[in-house]
Parts: sequence; C-alpha cells; structure tokens
Amino acid sequence: MARDQRRSVPPDGERSGARRDLNFTRPSLARVYDYVLGGREHFEIDRRAAHGFLNVAPESAQVAKDSRNFLRRGVRYLVGEAGIRQIIDIGSGLPTTGNVHEIAHEIDPTVHVVYVDKDPMVLTHARAMLGDDDTTTVISGDLRAPETIFDDPQTRALIDMDRPFAVLLSGILHHVSDKADPFRAAAEVSATLSPDSYLLISNFLDEDPRAKDLERAFLDSVGSGRFRTWDENRRFFEGLEMVEPGLVYANRWRPDADTPVGNQVETLYVGGVGRKV
Ligand SMILES: C[S@@+](CC[C@H](N)C(=O)[O-])C[C@H]1O[C@@H](n2cnc3c(N)ncnc32)[C@H](O)[C@@H]1O
Repeated sequence: MARDQRRSVPPDGERSGARRDLNFTRPSLARVYDYVLGGREHFEIDRRAAHGFLNVAPESAQVAKDSRNFLRRGVRYLVGEAGIRQIIDIGSGLPTTGNVHEIAHEIDPTVHVVYVDKDPMVLTHARAMLGDDDTTTVISGDLRAPETIFDDPQTRALIDMDRPFAVLLSGILHHVSDKADPFRAAAEVSATLSPDSYLLISNFLDEDPRAKDLERAFLDSVGSGRFRTWDENRRFFEGLEMVEPGLVYANRWRPDADTPVGNQVETLYVGGVGRKV
C-alpha cells in the first residue's frame, strides 16, 4: 500500500471508538512486527521489545521478511492456481507492503478478503486503508475462540462457507501459548473448511540451535513466541491433504526469483498449505 494511503484516517467517530481500546503501555505484537518489517506504526515500547529478540539474533529480522514472502507466494498459489476466491486472514497484522487483498486482486479483483486481528490498532488502520472497498473487510476476532471469526456477520456476508475458501494463519499460531491450546484452535478452523478449501500456516520452528534462546527472548519481550518442533507443526494440518512440497522451511515452499533460499535464518521458520478433501 502506498504511504499516503497508510496515513489516511477513518472518520472521527470510528477512530475515537477504536482508540479507546488501544494500549500504549505494553508492546503490541502487531506494532513490534511492523517495526521489524520497516514500517512506521510503532512506539518506543514496541522498539524496545523488538530489540529484546534482535539482540539475541539480529538476523532474526529476516524471519519476518521471509514470512511475508511466503505469504505472498501462498496467496498467489491459492488464487492463481487453486482457484480460491474467498480468503480469511487471521492475525493479519497492521497493513504493510503487499497486503493479502492487494496480492489477490492483482490476479482477480473480485476476490473477497476478511482480515481478522485481536489488536484494535489493526482494525483502525485496516479500515482506513480499505475505505469503501466492498470486496474486503476487517473484523475484531480471536483465533482462540474461532466462533468470534466464523460467526461474525461481516464474515458471513463476504464468505460463503459452503463454497471453497482459504484461511491464512501466517505467523500467528506460534503466538498462541500451549496453555491456550493452538492445536484445538487449528482443528476448529480445519473443521469449518468446506471441501476443496485450504489452510495456509507458517510458524517458528524448533530445530536450529538459536531457537530456544529466541523463544526465551520473545517470551520475555513480547510475551509470546513458541518455537515448535516439526511434529508439532505437522499436527496443525491434521486431517488435511498437504499441497506439494508439504510442510517445509518456508523459503523452500515454491520459491520464486525473490526468495532467499538457504539464507541464514531459513531453519527457524516453516510453512505449508493443506487442502480439505
Ligand atoms: C506476527 S503478526 C503476523 C502478521 C501477518 N499475518 C503476517 O504473516 O505478516 C501476528 C498478528 O497476530 C495477531 N494475533 C495474535 N494472537 C491472536 C489471536 N489469538 N487472535 C487474533 N489475532 C491474533 C497479532 O495481533 C498480530 O497482529
């Protein structure tokens, strides 16, 4: 999205309503991520939190970029090859360069997209970005309670769940603690999928010797960030048929000319796409 679009603001009533829920006394994951990606919507408290893990492994900033890159390739696959015309992006984060609806609309401008996040600042910024685009909306919802997403009237208005659709869980499940049971959440999402629908997931991976130190740093600084094993990450796709090449380092999933295959952080991040049969 162009910078001038990012700075536009919603009508006053809407803005003040959303701002009442905003919390600037704690780091926000969405703002920390925006900082790491080189965006402009962050505060000192977010930058300090980001440096909590960047000090442990400065190169980990590249993981966020690799994650966006995987998401872009995944959406192109879903719309361009799998024929998907409806997408729910859960944990969408703040608008950035190459938003999901923009990637999808490069292929087909009629694709419907519902953005979901639990951070009220995402709602405010995404509404400002979307203006009167009637193919796309943003709602407040929590992956830990999937009914807040799938039963929402705005989701229902844009997504026909009797037809194929895609759910994106890009960089979110590793921010759901074991206690909150991310496996149950993923299973509930899979259960909503109609035949020929897709689930895209990308997550931190516990394989690289840096993973445990980074996990501690994430938990200390942003309060979430689990690095899970290959088996744990595979479990998120239970009951789905994996699209080739399966669950792999995200940079190895259908790389294109812009994908930094084999870079020094690729062993920290996995990605895959599953299909409901
Ligand atoms: C690291 S960002 C990922 C953004 C984007 N999906 C991407 O891949 O670039 C994670 C986002 O998930 C949101 N989030 C975390 N837990 C969530 C939950 N339980 N329900 C909905 N959103 C959540 C955060 O507010 C944040 O915006």
